[in-house]
Amino acid sequence: MAETWTVLKVLKWTAGYLDQAGVENGRLDGELMLSSALGLDRVGLYLNYDRPMDPEELGIFRELVKRRAKREPLQYILGRTEFWSLPMKVNPSVLIPRQDTEILVEESLKRIGAEARILDVGTGSGAIAIALAHERRDVRVVALDCSQEALQTARDNACLNGVDGRIDFQRGNLFELPEGEYDLIVSNPPYIPENEVPALMPEVRDHEPHGALAGGADGLDCYRALACQAEDRLTLGGWLLMEVGAGQAEQVVHLLEQAGLCETFVRDDYAGIPRVVGGRRP
Ligand SMILES: C[S@@+](CC[C@H](N)C(=O)[O-])C[C@H]1O[C@@H](n2cnc3c(N)ncnc32)[C@H](O)[C@@H]1O
Repeated sequence: MAETWTVLKVLKWTAGYLDQAGVENGRLDGELMLSSALGLDRVGLYLNYDRPMDPEELGIFRELVKRRAKREPLQYILGRTEFWSLPMKVNPSVLIPRQDTEILVEESLKRIGAEARILDVGTGSGAIAIALAHERRDVRVVALDCSQEALQTARDNACLNGVDGRIDFQRGNLFELPEGEYDLIVSNPPYIPENEVPALMPEVRDHEPHGALAGGADGLDCYRALACQAEDRLTLGGWLLMEVGAGQAEQVVHLLEQAGLCETFVRDDYAGIPRVVGGRRP
């Protein structure tokens, strides 16, 4: 007689299998993937622990588990995540937006006046641009990225969140910012030193776009480029705010000061790591 695979039995097996593959939180990821495969929420899953799964359901779920065991990020497998409590579609053309980056949004919101013009450099999934446009209905945002695929995802996310009419998505290069004057330039640029990329977790190293991660030999290439251009692209009193990697804040503050920006500041993330650096055009 064929073995019966109930929801609970499948979950227990999956947790063990993913643990063996080195996945942290294998049980939770298994629950989220199974919820998605069965079209249930997690409470629905718990209420169906004794339900036997049919061969078709098992086949679909097995493919998801195989992908996770190869260390593909859960968010790419599900095709979605949340940022600033907003739904975001994600795929391997975009960095998965991180919770730490919400601090950049918080600091930006403190500094923008009515009808501010904002430039989000390296928009990726559009997370920062969309969160700002969602919070502040009066601002206009230009969202720039060098990746056409990322821009398409960002456009889809803007539609998903009802802010597509107020964000202008542009393909471009942060080393040569497009003409224009902005009250705020905000960026979470690639900042991992090239030689540290091989040591990243497999989820990041092998699946997230290299162009969203590596920031040159010392990780600071994009900060240098943005600091140099700030004076030409900011309005008087305008702000440049950037996310930084662990250990980079002091050097980035120095770059901003060298570029003539004033009122420089550093804000820590919730783990106490300096995470956002900013400065203002005098
Ligand atoms: C670290 S990701 C940030 C994505 C998103 N802003 C976020 O915070 O989740 C950096 C983004 O910068 C883009 N990028 C990298 N180099 C660039 C360049 N020279 N010009 C424009 N965009 C660039 C990448 O394609 C990627 O989408």
